[in-house]
Amino acid sequence: MTTRSSSLTASAAATEALGRSIAPLLEGRDVLLLVGGLGAGKTTFVRGLAGGLGYAGQVTSPTFTLCHTYDGRLALVHVDLWRLERAAEVADLALEEELEEGSVLVVEWGEAADDLFGAEALVVNFEPGRTDTERLVGLEARGTAWAARAGRLRDVLEADRHPV
Ligand SMILES: Nc1ncnc2c1ncn2[C@@H]1O[C@H](COP(=O)(O)OP(=O)(O)OP(=O)(O)O)[C@@H](O)[C@H]1O
Ligand SMILES: [Mg+2]
Repeated sequence: MTTRSSSLTASAAATEALGRSIAPLLEGRDVLLLVGGLGAGKTTFVRGLAGGLGYAGQVTSPTFTLCHTYDGRLALVHVDLWRLERAAEVADLALEEELEEGSVLVVEWGEAADDLFGAEALVVNFEPGRTDTERLVGLEARGTAWAARAGRLRDVLEADRHPV
């Protein structure tokens, strides 16, 4: 089962706020796959997720280190697959083990992990808007775990209709 919704954010602060307002819905073992080009707003969104989970430190793209962990209400494991070319390399990261420990996994360039995690995931798609500071953020809730939260996700987006 898949449900789709979207939100137009007018600034980086609004994209971060969207992440912060989705954070309370997160549960251990969740996977979020972030899809969108360079500078689309993926890391900005993760900054909001981490802040919303109570993490107060820095959030940056783990482009060269591949993986960062932010400890809050839940451990948020932040992965960037931009430099990984093959699905086998993604498998080598042993991300399932992180999930088994109850972490939340958020993956930039998440399409590279679609085979592994795409069936049960929140897929967040970032597209350019009409101006430099606008982004269309699409949310695709896939699988049973997210189906149970579709209503709450819709409520969050409704409440977010007047962005920063
Ligand atoms: N509505 C918006 N939402 C998010 N970022 C925005 C928005 N408008 C402008 N920006 C700017 O776009 C850039 C987004 O950078 P960010 O690091 O979040 O992108 P990214 O998708 O993670 O890129 P990369 O693939 O290089 O990791 C920032 O400089 C941010 O200030
Ligand atoms: Mg990034």
